[in-house]
Order: sequence, then structure tokens, then C-alpha cells
Amino acid sequence: MDITYDSWKIRETNYEVWRNLQAETIFSLGNGYMGMRGSFEEGYFGPPDNSFNATYINGFYDEYKISYPEDGYGFARRGQAMLNVPDAKIIEPVINGCEFNMFSGRVHSYQRILDMRNGFLERKVLWESPNGDMVEIDIKRLISFKRHHVAVVSCTVKPLNGDMEIEFISKIDGAMGNTEVSDDMRVGSGLKGRTMSTVGHGIWKDGGWIEQKTTNSGLYLLCGAKHETNFEADMEGCFYLDVLEHRFTAKIKKGEEFTIVKYITCYTSMDATEENLKGLAEKELKQSMEDGLAVIEKEQRQFLDEFWKRSDIMIEGDDAIQQGIRFCMFSLLQSLGRDGKTNIAAKGLTGEGYGGHYFWDSDIYIFPFFLYTNPDYAKLILKFRYNLLDAARERATELGHKGALYPWRTITGPECSAYFPAGTAQYHIDADITYAIKSYVMATGDRQFLIDMGAEIIFETARFWMSIGDFIPAKGGKFCINCVTGPDEYTALVDNNAYTNYMAKMNFEYAVSVAKWLMEEKPEEYRTLKEKIRISEDEIILWEKAACDMYLPNDESGIIPQDDGFLYKKRVEVNKIKDELPLLLHRHYLDIYRYQLCKQPDVLLMMFLLSEYFKGEDIKKNYDFYAPITTHDSSLSPSIFSIMARESGYFDEAYDFLKNSVRMDLDDVNGNTKDGIHAANMGGAWMALTMGAGGFRVYEDGVHFKPVLYKDWSRLCFKVRYRERSIMVDINRNIVKYTLIDGNPLTVYHYDEKLLLKPAEDIVKEYKDVKV
Ligand code: BGC
Repeated sequence: MDITYDSWKIRETNYEVWRNLQAETIFSLGNGYMGMRGSFEEGYFGPPDNSFNATYINGFYDEYKISYPEDGYGFARRGQAMLNVPDAKIIEPVINGCEFNMFSGRVHSYQRILDMRNGFLERKVLWESPNGDMVEIDIKRLISFKRHHVAVVSCTVKPLNGDMEIEFISKIDGAMGNTEVSDDMRVGSGLKGRTMSTVGHGIWKDGGWIEQKTTNSGLYLLCGAKHETNFEADMEGCFYLDVLEHRFTAKIKKGEEFTIVKYITCYTSMDATEENLKGLAEKELKQSMEDGLAVIEKEQRQFLDEFWKRSDIMIEGDDAIQQGIRFCMFSLLQSLGRDGKTNIAAKGLTGEGYGGHYFWDSDIYIFPFFLYTNPDYAKLILKFRYNLLDAARERATELGHKGALYPWRTITGPECSAYFPAGTAQYHIDADITYAIKSYVMATGDRQFLIDMGAEIIFETARFWMSIGDFIPAKGGKFCINCVTGPDEYTALVDNNAYTNYMAKMNFEYAVSVAKWLMEEKPEEYRTLKEKIRISEDEIILWEKAACDMYLPNDESGIIPQDDGFLYKKRVEVNKIKDELPLLLHRHYLDIYRYQLCKQPDVLLMMFLLSEYFKGEDIKKNYDFYAPITTHDSSLSPSIFSIMARESGYFDEAYDFLKNSVRMDLDDVNGNTKDGIHAANMGGAWMALTMGAGGFRVYEDGVHFKPVLYKDWSRLCFKVRYRERSIMVDINRNIVKYTLIDGNPLTVYHYDEKLLLKPAEDIVKEYKDVKV
């Protein structure tokens, strides 16, 4: 895409149809509840397979049975997939009888702009119809951050070379369906084509609605729209074949502007009971029309002012990274479910990849961005996990384990991974969730959350670890966890995966410390929880022992083996197999698992997450060992490598990985942005900047920074929230300035030097290019 490096806008000025699928992802809009790909309002009329038009409602899904010709006990049974719901954004301008589209007549000039400051998508086209009528067309689309159920599309047509009859055909198309075919297992699901049927519709004077029902999950969705025009227009509405259509026609003089504004709303039976959906939609539309587009636009700006005030990162001397990191943060904001019942799908609300499932991506990669900028949003991710706790308990029981086992991928709770070696076996998800809870409590001081939800999750996950691991005599009586898959999906079903064991140890330790805290400080609450989940003090003692005796893979050379068998395998350096990447599309898994070959960081990720326990030279040793054998076939890889390269003193490598991560979708680095954004990577990009370049960490003793500047950067400035304070770190080639923007005085660490930050008293330190 001909993306210019405008820091607040993604702008395409040359429409290249072969890039259209990627562009539709990039120009997606969303507000965490609903998302629309950046497809054109009037439809796509170009060569086949270059457009995928979709609208999603976060967590709105249908189910399918997963069939295994060779079945097995405990295999995941029910697949779920996020549905492509009715398309309500359609407005087709017709100029003197000629339908506008990008493939007919002549496009004299074109711009498609995603405005991340104001929160809308805009297209400006100077178009000449096949009959020679010249018009300016301006189409704006917005999905409101404040009104979760509202989207607005406005379309203005201005005749330039004569008076014209202009017609707007507005539709809600209920005949949408999910992706049909894909050779790539990362795309699509067991649901193909249409799975929703229309169960009702209605036509109002200025709009209408249609209601649909899913085939298997029994969910309802009602989508309605109303219109206003700036000229008196003849208006007509009808319904045919799952499509609701309204036409607005007016005679417009040369130089005048004819505008239609379409207010759209969606409600589903996940929001309210089915009988109430229509009433809610009507109310929402009435309110939106009364307030009008100008108010909704103003609210959008105010919302984003607040968001950027808390979250923005400024980089001087690198426009590509500046634009890229804003796009990452904006996309995360667009993707996060705001109700605690939905989360962030691996592709946000922008595409079919990974079936709209939620993974550990949310807890480990995306969570930190929200935690340290908008902690209330981070809490929603944890609430989501709490809502899934019963399903996780059931899954643990089904597999013969105690406690709770969270699904590797899911929408509403059941395990949806049909490939258990890289699905259910990634038990580390349990510890990942505990890690997120622990980070949340450390960063916010919100211990009430532990009482309300957190402790229950932590105890049930500790129980789970206790039930799948054991003290093994052949390993000196150490607590071992066998037959698991760590984060690296190119090694599976191994014994003592380092990441899993270290993180399970953390899970045990945190469970013990929370239990002790509850017993001492909140005995009432402890008793209630104890009764609810029948916890015993003996169990807690066992957790303590397991934490203490956890088997932590180690090697005399200082390399942490990824698992018990890893060092015995043949080493394959990635530069020898470059033509085969991504390996998962070119080799049988058996031919991948056999080698020292990684898809993504495993040991290095663990060393990053638990970085207070590792020294720079340990990290460097392990970086040198794992870097040559890591393919980065997972988009979750480059960001962590960037951080660990920085920790190892390889600044140029750190920068290259950072750039890859920050611009992964804008530059379509992996060639699959067409299937949706890489949401986990976007969270990783934020970490690679703040925790990599910024050296930001939160440990028990507080907030630490070790900032450096990469390449030609003349400035990096970011903010983090910690315990109701905002701290700004502003780095240039001469100084590092720390500012306490709000909140009470706080001690922070600059390269281990203690600084007492006070309001209105910046602390300035000299900038040094510290390597390790
Ligand atoms: C990665 C997983 C990740 C999933 C969804 C896979 O390619 O290996 O770690 O959770 O994508 O993003």
C-alpha cells in the first residue's frame, strides 16, 4: 500500500486492487463490540478473490461439531466461530442512473484515510461516470467508542459539471457468510458460508431492521438503521431475499452537496433477551438521530483525546515507527470487548483468521498495554477469565485433573482446539492467567480484585498444576510436569518445558502468598472462599513444597534447555531452511518436532516475563543459543526477540525486530494481514518499545526504567500508569526526564538508581547508551 508516514493517519492514495484484502483489514473500524472491515460501502466489483467484506460482533458465534475420523477421549467436541453478521454499511450512490463504483467510469483522484485521532474512516473520490458526469464523493464511517451499539455512515455527493439526479440505495444485507475456502489452517473454521437465517424484519418511514438467528448456538441478532438527508428526497423501502433496501432520490444542482447519514445499530441476545432487541435498537437509533452526527463525532474525538492522553508514545527521528505504534495501539483499542464477557480475538474484529478465538495472546501479550495505560480495560480481560472459570473447572474434570484448565482457544469457554498437541497441551495458559492477575495487582494495588475473583482463579490453577505434576524420584524428588507443550508450537508434548515449569512455580508461589494474605488480613473472605471451593491448608502446604522443589531445567553452560529432550535433538539453523518458511505450511509436524527448531520464543519469553530472576549475561547466552534456531513463524515472536536482543546488547537487532513487529500489518510483513490484524503482536510491539527500548519493568519493589534510543531516534517519550499515578519518561540523546503527571510521590528506579518523583518536580538524568 502506498502508505505515507502521516503520524495520525493511515492514508492510501492509489487504489491497488491486488492489495485490497490487506487494505480492508488495515482500514477496519471497531469499538470492541462491533467491527467492520474496510470494504467499500457500494460493494466490490473488481477481479474475484480480492475482497472479503465482513462485519463482526465480538463473541457472537455459531457452533459446529468437530469430527475426528480417529477419535480420542477428551478431544475438543464443539468448535465455535465468530460470525460474519448482516452488512449494514451499504450505501450505493447512483448518478443520473449510473451506479458509482471504483471499477466503472473513471477515478480521477482517490484517498482512503483512517484517522486515528478522530476515530473515523474516510474515502474521497473524484469520479466521472461512464456518461461523463463528474462528481465528488465523500464517504465517512465511524463506529462509536462511547455508544457501543452505534455505527454511522455518511455519504456526500457533489455534482461538478451539471445538475444531476442523485440516488442513494441504502441496504442491510442479511445474506452474509463466513470464509469459504482456505488451504491455511490459521484461517477459517468449521463454519463455512451462511449460518444465520432471517426470522423477522420491519420497515419504518426512514429505515428498518432485520433480525436473524444462528443455526446451532441459538443466538439472535437484530440490526437496524435509520437515515436522514439534507435535501427533501423521495424515499422508498422494501425487503427481499434477506436484504432490506431504502432508496432516496433528489435532483441536485451543480455545486450543491447531497448528503445521506445512516445511523446503524446492532443488538444481540448476548446483550438482552430476544424480545427486547427491537425496542433497544429503536431507542438507540432515536437517540443517535436526536443527537446527530456532529455530536457523535465530537464524542469520538473526546474519547480518543482521553485515550491518547494516557497511551500515546512519541518517537522523533523515525516516522515509520511513530505511525506504526499508533496504529497498533488504536487497533487494540478497537478490538477489546468492554463487557468482561468478551475479550480480544487473535485478529481483533478485522478478519476470519483463527475463527475469532481468544487465546493466551490476550493475557500475556495484550494485557500489559492496557494494564499500564488503561488499567480498567485490563481488568475486563481478567473478568472475562473469571467468567470462564466454571467451564475451565469442567474441562479439568473431563480430563481427569483437579482445579481448572482454561481452554487454549475459545469464544465462550469450551476448548475449541481440534489439535491437542498445540492446543489443550499448552497448559501454560493457566499460569499465564495467574501471571496477568499478579501483574494487575502489583500495578494497581487493587487487592479487592483478589477477593472478588482473582484468588479463586489462582487457587484453582494451582490445584490444576498440583494434579498434573509430581515429585519424581528419578529427578531427585523434584516436582516435574510432563507431557506438555510450551509456547513454542514447533516442539510438542515434552517433559519439563522450562516456560511451563517456571510459570507454574510462579503460580504456586502466588497462590501461597495470596492464601496467606487472605488468612491473615481477610479471614472472613478466606473462609467464604474456602467453603466455596473446599480448599484445605494441607493443599496450600503442598503448593509451597511444589514451588520450592519445582524442577527447573538447567545446563552447566548456562543455557536453559527448552525441555528435557531439547538438547538431544539435531540443531537446524533457520538460515539453512529459509525457503521453507513458514514451516507449518511446508512440513509435517513430526518433521518439525524432531529438531532444535522453534516457531517462537519459549525460554526467552519466560526470561522476559520473570526478568527479575535473570542477569544480562544469562539472557545473552540464551539469546545467542535460541536466536539462530527460531523461525519467527509466529507473529508473537519478533516483539519478544526485540526486547531480549536489547537485553543482550544487540541494539541493531533489537531495532530490526521492533520494526518488524510495529509495522507487521501496515507493511504486511508476513503476507497474511488479509486475514486480519495480528493483535498479540500489537501488544508485543507496545512492550518492545516501552519494555525493550524503555527498559520499563514493574517488580515487587516498584517501577524500573533503563531507557535507550535505537538507530537515528532523537526522542522517545512514553507514559505508564502505576498505582493511580501517571509517569512520563522523555528520552533524548542528552537526557532522560522523569515526570510525575498525577498522583502522590513515588520512588522509581533509573538504571537501579532510586529517584523520588514528586509532582511538578521533574528529575533529569544524563542519557547514556548503556549496552547491557
Ligand atoms: C502462535 C500462538 C498464538 C496463536 C494465535 C500461533 O501462531 O504460535 O502462540 O496464540 O498463533 O495468535
